[in-house]
Amino acid sequence: SNMAGQRKVGIIGSGLIGRSWAMLFAGAGFNVVMYDVDSAQLDGAKVSIKQQLNELERQGLLRGTLLAEEQFSLISTSENLSEAVKDAIHIQECVPENVDLKKQMFSKLNDLCTLDETVLCSSTSCILPSKIFTGLRRVSQCIVAHPCNPPYHCPLTEIIPHPETSEDAVQRTRELMAKIGQEPVMVKREIDGFALNRMQYAIINEAWRLVEDGIMTPEDVDKVFTTGLGMRYAFIGPFETIHLNAEGTENYMQRYASSIRRVSSSFGPIPTFDGKTLEHVEQRMASRIPSVPDELNKRRQWRDDRLVALAKLKKQMDS
Ligand code: NAI
Repeated sequence: SNMAGQRKVGIIGSGLIGRSWAMLFAGAGFNVVMYDVDSAQLDGAKVSIKQQLNELERQGLLRGTLLAEEQFSLISTSENLSEAVKDAIHIQECVPENVDLKKQMFSKLNDLCTLDETVLCSSTSCILPSKIFTGLRRVSQCIVAHPCNPPYHCPLTEIIPHPETSEDAVQRTRELMAKIGQEPVMVKREIDGFALNRMQYAIINEAWRLVEDGIMTPEDVDKVFTTGLGMRYAFIGPFETIHLNAEGTENYMQRYASSIRRVSSSFGPIPTFDGKTLEHVEQRMASRIPSVPDELNKRRQWRDDRLVALAKLKKQMDS
């Protein structure tokens, strides 16, 4: 039972993100138990996971060395929270994004987990660790691991410790994420928006200003990414871009630091994202992609097909 206990992960909440984590942990051979308050969600999760694993296998994109069927057989469900977390080495919380709900859940998990070393991990997109974990007896083992959607194809996972999280818990979380094929990055001190959303919001701000000031159309702003920056960013980040676009980083800054500072000083204030500009952007976007579920879903499928193809290409080129 000890050996089995070493290899068990509990997933709390079986929605979009809980299902993805279940597949990722099963891919690395862990026993996964999913818990949810809604039994229909658990049933739906099993059906959807089976289908997704089979599809990934068919496309040659399954992670790990086990067959889809073997991975699926490692995943079970439970409507009993203490059963779901018993002997788990890692618990991944994926309930809706609500501070009070998460606080209540971590207080229960704190009391229910049975091993001393269990790491209690939240998938929260934007709640700071101190808002969820402060005051818990096991705070030194509590941490945030924020995935990027869809996690199976975008492996980034932001790790954000609470100020009182132990170095050991940080280390074990990073190692576990790497083991299941995720790419952990450390946000060493908690900061609003973590890293991904801080950078994303910097981009949304400038995109919005360029449209609001009548300098570009929304379509052309999107093209700056789809045909320019995005082409690069799928393979290299801003620092490697800098390094390669001159004779190294120092040389780049000798040449361009003053331009970056001049242009940056012309950035306008934070937009309010409402009024005429909002109306205009909505109208332009909806003329191509009507804001109704059917049309949005069609386009989401189109997007996901491309993300899968890109993931495949990256996998091929990196191996
Ligand atoms: P979701 O709404 O798809 O799933 C939430 C699940 O939690 C549902 O199955 C629901 O029945 C269950 N649930 C509700 N109350 C519960 C409780 N008290 N105990 C157990 N289960 C309960 O939500 P989603 O999108 O999976 O998000 C979960 C978390 O992951 C959120 O914190 C979110 O911010 C984060 N996240 C979401 C991303 C996304 O793109 N959807 C990306 C990265 C993180």
